[in-house]
Amino acid sequence: MVALLDTSSSPQMTISDDAFSKLRDFVYEKSGIYIAENRKYLLENRLINRLKALGLKNYGEYYEFLRYDSGSYSEIKALYSVITTNETSFYRNPPQLKVLENGLLTALLDMQKRRGQRSLHIWSAGCSTGEEPYTLAMILLETLGPRLGGWKVIISAGDLSETVLESARQGEYASYALRTTPDHIKEKYFDELDGGRYRVKDVVKRLVTFAPMNLKDKARLRSIRQSQLIFCRNVLIYFDQPMKKQVISTFYDCLCPGGYLFIGHSESLHNISRAFTPQYHPGAIVYKKEE
Ligand SMILES: C[S@@+](CC[C@H](N)C(=O)[O-])C[C@H]1O[C@@H](n2cnc3c(N)ncnc32)[C@H](O)[C@@H]1O
Repeated sequence: MVALLDTSSSPQMTISDDAFSKLRDFVYEKSGIYIAENRKYLLENRLINRLKALGLKNYGEYYEFLRYDSGSYSEIKALYSVITTNETSFYRNPPQLKVLENGLLTALLDMQKRRGQRSLHIWSAGCSTGEEPYTLAMILLETLGPRLGGWKVIISAGDLSETVLESARQGEYASYALRTTPDHIKEKYFDELDGGRYRVKDVVKRLVTFAPMNLKDKARLRSIRQSQLIFCRNVLIYFDQPMKKQVISTFYDCLCPGGYLFIGHSESLHNISRAFTPQYHPGAIVYKKEE
């Protein structure tokens, strides 16, 4: 016997062309994330649980809710959490990190000393669940060790999704997140928990501050303190050309002269900005804001 499914209370699974363009434009307007025409299925899959949670019948109703409902503020946060792709890991892309370890960090500290400033500000923009900023903190501790004493070091880490930030603040990870982490780092900066999980030690956590941040929000970003180093890896790929240009120009303004920008190894500033000087290292390009 075939059981008939009661579909009366389930939302309609297929997104109409009209609802797709409205939702896609809404996501872009709010976050700068660009969803191509051929990725309709992505919105469908990622939003279906939001429709269910809100008891809505179709994607058109969801759009109306986001746009006009008085409760939309918290729903927009939920939207950010489901539409973002948060893939990351500790010690991701080692050739870029080697550049930091092999002189760039020390050079930045020397530059600050010459300016009579004993402070270093690093910004991890699009930090996801925290692996990137924590890696930067570990590299600082390893490379500079006791030289860090007497310095005010702040790593500001921000992301659009508050769900990933919550998890970042917890600082607990499955072993897969540490798959490219050198053994001696694992031993020194993590506590091993039951079930093969790892917790970042306080000495590392202390250097990192997490806060929600939207790279689309130019006005808010202007209030971010000047940085000597900005990491924004594997984030630009979600933006279209105008948004990439806007974000990169904001980074330029937020970097102090002599500072560096790191983007993902598969990303490029070609046709986006000529303001930076690219520096070529084995397996990595870093972008300098000239003094
Ligand atoms: C693929 S992860 C990259 C994480 C890390 N930077 C790395 O390379 O391992 C991309 C992150 O960018 C964030 N993101 C996307 N759009 C953003 C925006 N408009 N403002 C801030 N963060 C954003 C996502 O939430 C996601 O966590």
